[in-house]
Amino acid sequence: LKNICQFSDQLPKWKDKKSTLLIFDQYLLKIPRIMKWITQFPNRYAVKSGEGLKEIGQLPNHVENLLKYISVTQKVLVMGGGSVGDFGGFVASILKRGIAVEQMPTTWLAALDSSHGGKTAMNVGGYKNQVGTYHFPTKVWIVKSVLQSQPEQRLFEASGEFMKTALIGGEKLLKAMQNWNWQKGQIRWSDLKDFIDVKYQIVKKDPFEKKGIRHQLNLGHTMGHVWEAHCQVPHGLAVFHGLLFDLAWSVQKKMMSAERSVDLMDEMPWSYIWDRQFQNQLDQTLYGLSESKIKSYLLKDKKNKDGMIQFTFVMRPGKVVIREVHIDEILREYRRQQRALQELYETL
Ligand SMILES: NC(=O)c1ccc[n+]([C@@H]2O[C@H](COP(=O)([O-])OP(=O)(O)OC[C@H]3O[C@@H](n4cnc5c(N)ncnc54)[C@H](O)[C@@H]3O)[C@@H](O)[C@H]2O)c1
Ligand SMILES: [Zn+2]
Repeated sequence: LKNICQFSDQLPKWKDKKSTLLIFDQYLLKIPRIMKWITQFPNRYAVKSGEGLKEIGQLPNHVENLLKYISVTQKVLVMGGGSVGDFGGFVASILKRGIAVEQMPTTWLAALDSSHGGKTAMNVGGYKNQVGTYHFPTKVWIVKSVLQSQPEQRLFEASGEFMKTALIGGEKLLKAMQNWNWQKGQIRWSDLKDFIDVKYQIVKKDPFEKKGIRHQLNLGHTMGHVWEAHCQVPHGLAVFHGLLFDLAWSVQKKMMSAERSVDLMDEMPWSYIWDRQFQNQLDQTLYGLSESKIKSYLLKDKKNKDGMIQFTFVMRPGKVVIREVHIDEILREYRRQQRALQELYETL
C-alpha cells in the first residue's frame, strides 16, 4: 500500500472523461469554478451529502440510476466530503463486483481522514457504518483551491479528527495546530501532508484491521459515534467530544497524569472550540442521554464482542493504547464524567 496522494494547487486536467463516472456532492454546483469542472464529465451523478445518503434503504434506487452509466464506466471518481466518499466508495466496490475508485475530498475531514484508508460504510436504521467494504482508492486528489474554499465551519467540524491524528502522531503535530487560523477556517497547507501520513503509516501496517493496530484510529470514536448518531452532531465534532471522554478516562485510569492532561489542554486550540460549544451548551446535551440509549448504540458498535469493546486510551501524545473494556464500564465512566460536569456547572 503506497502513498497514493496527488497534491495539486488547482483542479487537474482530466484525460479519460468519457470512461469516468463522477459521483459528486450537489453542493459543489454552487461554486462556479467547480461547477464548470464538474460539467465537463458526460457521466456524472449528483447526490445530497449527509448521513441520509449513507442509509442502506436508499441504495437500490441509487444503484438503478447508476447502472445507466455502467457500460461506459472504467473508473469512479468521488468528489465530496466523507459521506459522499463512504457512499461512492461503497457503490464502486459493488458495481460490476468492484470498479477502480479515485477520491477527491472536498472537506478538511475527508482530505485528512475518510478519503484514505479504503474503508467504505453505509448506515442501517440510523446506526452508523453497520455495513461496508474495504475498497482502496487508486488515487486521492488533494486540491488546494477546492479545500481552501471551505467556510470556517468546516474546519471547526473537522477539529476532532485533526486532534485525533495529532494525539496519535505526537507532539510535533499538536504544536503545528496551534499556528493554524481557526477563526478563518484555514490550516497551514504544508502541514496537511504530515497529518495524512499518520493515517497511511497505520493503515499500511494493518490495512484490513486484523492486527489491532488500525484500532488506534478509533480514538474518540466509541462515544463519538453514540453522540453523532443520537444527538445529530457532525462527525468531527462528535469525535472531538469523544476524545475528551477518552482523555478524561485515561487520566482516571492513571494512564496519563493529571498534569500532563492539563498541559495538553493548554497546548491545543481547545478554547476556541470550547467557546463555540459552550454557547449552545452542547456538553449538557451530550451528557444528558439515558443509559439504555447509550447501551443500545454501544451494542451496535462493530468493536463490540459479547459486551466487550476495544477501547482507545492515551498515555501521551504519540502513544495510544488499546484495552478491552466492558460496556458497563463505559457507562460507569459516562456517569462519572456526567457528575463532574454537573459539579463544574454548579461552581460557575
Ligand atoms: N471511511 C472512513 O474511513 C471515514 C473516516 C472518517 C469519517 N468518515 C465519515 O465521513 C462523514 C463525515 O465527513 P464530512 O464532514 O466531510 O461529511 P459530509 O460529506 O456530510 O460534508 C459535510 C458538509 O460539507 C459540505 N461540503 C462538501 N464540500 C464542501 C466544500 N468544498 N465547501 C463547503 N462545504 C462543503 C457538504 O455538502 C456537507 O454539508 C461521516 O459520515 C463519517 O462517518 C468516514
Ligand atoms: Zn472519524
